[in-house]
Amino acid sequence: MIRHFLRDDDLSPAEQSAVLDLAARMKADRFGHRPLAGPRSVAVLFDKQSLRTRFSFDVGIAELGGHPLVVDTQVTHFGRGETLGDAGRVLSRYVAAIVLRTHGDDRIAEVAEAATVPVVNALTDGFHPCQLLADLLTIREHCGGTAGRTLAYVGDAANNLSHSYLLAGATAGMHVRVAGPAGFGPDPEVLARAEKIAAGTGGSVLALTDPVEAVAGADVVATDTWTSMGQEDDGLDRLTPFLPYQVNAALLGHAAPGAVVLHCLPAHRGEEITDEVLDGPQSVVFDEAENRLHAQKALLTFLLGAAPAAPDAAAP
Ligand code: CP
Ligand code: NVA
Repeated sequence: MIRHFLRDDDLSPAEQSAVLDLAARMKADRFGHRPLAGPRSVAVLFDKQSLRTRFSFDVGIAELGGHPLVVDTQVTHFGRGETLGDAGRVLSRYVAAIVLRTHGDDRIAEVAEAATVPVVNALTDGFHPCQLLADLLTIREHCGGTAGRTLAYVGDAANNLSHSYLLAGATAGMHVRVAGPAGFGPDPEVLARAEKIAAGTGGSVLALTDPVEAVAGADVVATDTWTSMGQEDDGLDRLTPFLPYQVNAALLGHAAPGAVVLHCLPAHRGEEITDEVLDGPQSVVFDEAENRLHAQKALLTFLLGAAPAAPDAAAP
């Protein structure tokens, strides 16, 4: 069966944990795993801008022994008549997997329905699940694990990062609180799905409007831009209502002592996060950015059914 990764809840708790275990092993032995040797090719397609996702997939596929084909879709027939389904069917004849950053989730779903190879969401309007694998790996490294830890995400709680924190955090057994201004709360379907997942993992999810209530006692404080790609001209005030949600020293002071700060980057310094916090001792954002590489290598390996046996299983 072909495994796609379109949303964070496409991995079960056990599968998510296995991918993160593999990511940690791949980080420790960076060039020791080459499941794409041949080389097998992977298409990495962008309808939107990127720095981290573009480079981490390009470098990661090469480190797995594969051949990355990183393409901006403006130079393809995407968007000028060729259906996404036809493109998915054609690319499946060439490559081992398709990675796509695009707008609506319906667009990546159309590719996945037609593709005969795994399709990976490299960010859509709805979700950013590869980012969350990197974030969870970073939380494991800095907090000793994920289960039972409290994560507060403050800012635009209606965006892709908020949705992915809810789903992936619940899958990892975390207590996830998201807080944004009125009118900027999470999609009720995603919140309900995260609640259901959390009921099975011992985690919990909460949607709030008070940033201090969200951050109080949290082990991890996360934020993201107040204006996501494609929202620049949506006519909403994306500054004034968000000012109380800025991650600054005062807000961070409500978190648990030693709490760590995440930001997927790019950051809008002085808006959703201050220099003082982003460059401060509690920030782990550059570890987080590095972990995109290791997490995505593990994800591709898992989706291609090429994960090496865990060390315990290999023991005599
Ligand atoms: N965090 C993230 O996805 O960054 P890019 O938009 O630069 O890929
Ligand atoms: N929410 C942001 C994340 C960027 C990595 C966006 O979609 O633009």
